[in-house]
Parts: sequence; structure tokens; C-alpha cells
Amino acid sequence: MSSIEKAMERAAGAAGGVVERLVAARRVREEAPRHDLDLGRLRSMGYLTPEDSDGALAEQYRIIKRPLLMNAFGRGAVPIEGGNLIMVTSSLPGEGKTFTTFNLAMSMAMELDHTVLVVDADIVKPTLTELAGLKGRPGLTDVLASDSVGVGDVIARTNVPKLRIIPAGKAHPNSSELLASQAMRTLMEELAERYPDRVVLFDTPPLLAASQASILTYLVGQVVVVVEAGRTPQPVVKEALGLVDSSKAVGLVLNKSHERGSGDYYGYYGHGEA
Ligand SMILES: Nc1ncnc2c1ncn2[C@@H]1O[C@H](COP(=O)(O)OP(=O)(O)OP(=O)(O)O)[C@@H](O)[C@H]1O
Ligand SMILES: [Mg+2]
Repeated sequence: MSSIEKAMERAAGAAGGVVERLVAARRVREEAPRHDLDLGRLRSMGYLTPEDSDGALAEQYRIIKRPLLMNAFGRGAVPIEGGNLIMVTSSLPGEGKTFTTFNLAMSMAMELDHTVLVVDADIVKPTLTELAGLKGRPGLTDVLASDSVGVGDVIARTNVPKLRIIPAGKAHPNSSELLASQAMRTLMEELAERYPDRVVLFDTPPLLAASQASILTYLVGQVVVVVEAGRTPQPVVKEALGLVDSSKAVGLVLNKSHERGSGDYYGYYGHGEA
């Protein structure tokens, strides 16, 4: 064997070693302990769970998610950059952002060929993390505030096979600034690059309560604005929409609508340029 051949063989061996180590590292990560969501409790609280896949709630979310998925994977009318990164926000607190994020994620995970990753980006008020029973676990703030914690370290697998969750993470003195940081921008780019075949859903703060949600609209491909039926006045919704990056696809979800006769809690109000 010539010395060149020997050198090539050594190089191939070394590369093989790296590949093996990467595969092994991945295996360890995939085998990280599963976190079980308390699906019975979530169901009793009115959230969508796999048991309800034939119910009215599931049907409503099927309608809401369809255009989001078309845009996420380039099957919409216009290709959308980063369309698989979808944030859920609203004008004001309490309109149902977390409810919508969780149910959309569950709906997508129940029927989709793709894995869904939910990120609790409402780090000041991490309701989704609490609902999931992931309080106290490392999460988004830890990735943003530390160089040694990576995305892969904070993704929780769940008992819903295609559903993964990144909890909000430890409380941090500058929580709200973290969302507007360069680290957040870098993380979003990493998520888009690393998981192009996943839907990544972000539960975020309200647009009019803090500036972070508005900044996040520039980092995602699609924005879902939840509007509480009968409560949020139209000028307030307009003001909130004015804070959304105008190049983004924006969907409006009418939540808590109990109109007589319709039987619907939700209405999908459109999807187009803001
Ligand atoms: N369509 C709905 N039907 C029944 N209950 C709902 C509905 N939407 C929201 N809720 C309930 O209303 C409350 C507020 O909803 P949620 O926490 O989702 O709002 P939010 O916009 O995330 O609030 P925050 O701004 O505090 O994060 C919760 O108790 C939630 O379970
Ligand atoms: Mg919330």
C-alpha cells in the first residue's frame, strides 16, 4: 500500500470514528428519559389530547392548522422563509395564547408525519411549562444565558410520540431582555437550520404588553394572533397587528367564541399579508 493510500485509509478511519461518535451522542440524546404529560388532567382542563382526536375541538384545530402547515412546508401560494417557525401571540394578556399553542401542537403531533417542537417563549409567565409539568427543568433561558447549554440539552420528549417541548427554563433576572437578545436570534437560526422538517411553535407574550413579542415576529416565518371574542376591541387588535413584521404571513384565531348556533369556539379568520 502506498503511503498516500495509507494516509487516505487513516483519514477515512478517523472520519468514521467521528461519525460513530456523533451517532452514539445522538442515540444517548434520543434515549433521554421521557417526560409524561398528565393527559388526563389536561383533558379535564379543556385541552386537546389524543383521546379526543374525533371531537369538535380536534376538528376546529384541524381547520386552524391546515394553512399553517401548507405555509410551513412550502405548499402555500407564496413560499415563506422559515415558515415552519410559527409564533402564537395576541394583543393583550389572557386571550388564549397558551391554550391555542398547546392545542395546535397536540393537533399537529396527533396527525402529522413531522415532529412538533413547542417552545415556551413566554419566559416571564411560563404557563405552558407549568401545564406540561416541566417547571424547574432547564429550558430556553438556560440556552440563551449560557454557552454550555445547547438546544439538544433542553428538549423534552413526551408521552405523545411526535411532541417535544422546550420549557421556559430557570427564572432569570433579565428574562425579558433575553428574548430580544442576539442569542435568541442565533437560536432561531439554529432551530430553522437543524429542524427544517419540524414545526416549531412558540408560545409568546402579548404584543401590546411588552416589546419582545414584536421583535420575535421578525425571527419567525408565520405569526398567529389570538383574538378573544367579544373582549378585545377592534382598534386594539389593529394596533397589535401594526407591531407585527409586515412581511409575515399572519393568521387570526378567534378564541372563546360561543356564538349561538355555530357551536364553534374558534374561527380561522384568514391568512395573508398583514
Ligand atoms: N377557548 C377556550 N375555552 C376554554 N377555556 C379557555 C379557552 N381559551 C383559553 N381558556 C382558558 O383561559 C385562561 C387564559 O388562557 P391562556 O392561558 O391560554 O391565555 P394567554 O393568552 O396565554 O394568557 P397570558 O397572557 O397570561 O399568557 C386559561 O385558564 C385557559 O385555560
Ligand atoms: Mg400564556
